[in-house]
Amino acid sequence: MNWDDTADESAAERLVDSGADREDQAVEAALRPKDLGEFIGQEKVREQLDLVLRAARARGATADHVLLSGAPGLGKTTLSMIIAAEMNAPIRITSGPAIQHAGDLAAILSSLQEGEVLFLDEIHRMSRPAEEMLYMAMEDFRVDVIVGKGPGATAIPLELPPFTLVGATTRAGLLPPPLRDRFGFTAHMEFYEPLELERVIHRSANLLDVEIEADGAAEIAGRSRGTPRIANRLLRRVRDYAQVKADGLITRDIAEAALAVYEVDARGLDRLDRGVLEALLKLFGGGPVGLSTLAVAVGEERETVEEVAEPFLVREGLLARTPRGRVATPAAWAHLGLTPPGSAATGNGQQDLFGT
Ligand SMILES: Nc1ncnc2c1ncn2[C@@H]1O[C@H](COP(=O)(O)OP(=O)(O)OP(=O)(O)O)[C@@H](O)[C@H]1O
Ligand SMILES: [Mg+2]
Repeated sequence: MNWDDTADESAAERLVDSGADREDQAVEAALRPKDLGEFIGQEKVREQLDLVLRAARARGATADHVLLSGAPGLGKTTLSMIIAAEMNAPIRITSGPAIQHAGDLAAILSSLQEGEVLFLDEIHRMSRPAEEMLYMAMEDFRVDVIVGKGPGATAIPLELPPFTLVGATTRAGLLPPPLRDRFGFTAHMEFYEPLELERVIHRSANLLDVEIEADGAAEIAGRSRGTPRIANRLLRRVRDYAQVKADGLITRDIAEAALAVYEVDARGLDRLDRGVLEALLKLFGGGPVGLSTLAVAVGEERETVEEVAEPFLVREGLLARTPRGRVATPAAWAHLGLTPPGSAATGNGQQDLFGT
């Protein structure tokens, strides 16, 4: 089992996972912004991409190849479709894992129309031989198709029409430099600010015909881990609650009550995240403690703790990975409403804090 499979499996169960589950896939098409103007946030990326596309359009040329990197659910697939729409070009969608042989790629490339956008998702998972064919295709719009095997094999050069490759990756660091260098424009997508997520939520609520108050949207945004996909998913779950338990209107109280049912806390931590933090604080005094020990304490696989729970805890500054083991930060104690052992010893200090 590889890393991605592990992540996918847990994705099915977690409301705050950033990967797409089946329901997401079904509704996302309806919620995707269709052009750059509708795309919320990512100001820098949007501005730069707008220039790249406008300039290409003005020249009547095909846009340069674009690499989109960023965590799951931040809008890479959405942007690729926007690029095609803005260029008024058809789009062909494939992914790294789908291209195992160079021949698979040759078949796709040779059937592209002039100006077409080829979206290659998870580009870091393409096979080596396919990657090398892609270098030449991107640079010279040409591929060598190998016919035959062994010493008798011959390379038949094939001209390709100009096309725009849009590559997406969650792990830009895994891309070989020669591939990275062949993109004319690289967009790194950041996590979204709460205010941007509020706008995403209002927009989606509108499309889903859900009534939501500003406070309700703010409450959901704060728990969405900087990720539009999670914001949209939490919105749907809160909508369900509002329909069943109230009159359908999403207020702050409704959002809070609904997300309490789903065990997503004020900061977007779910049961697993909190379990890891709680074990670290209550059983190990905040650490340092080894990953394996911590995993046993929460009754999870090592990989689940390390790959599913920890990245967000680290990002939020609640947990640190040190050479001696996992350590909780002061913010972790505060978030769970617990007192770190050190400060308990200086009990008088607390009185001073309250000015008594
Ligand atoms: N800037 C945005 N404005 C509004 N909605 C957005 C934005 N970015 C993403 N979304 C919404 O979030 C959902 C997920 O986005 P998308 O599928 O593009 O993410 P992704 O980066 O391709 O994720 P993955 O790495 O899993 O493929 C989409 O349904 C889209 O509606
Ligand atoms: Mg995607």
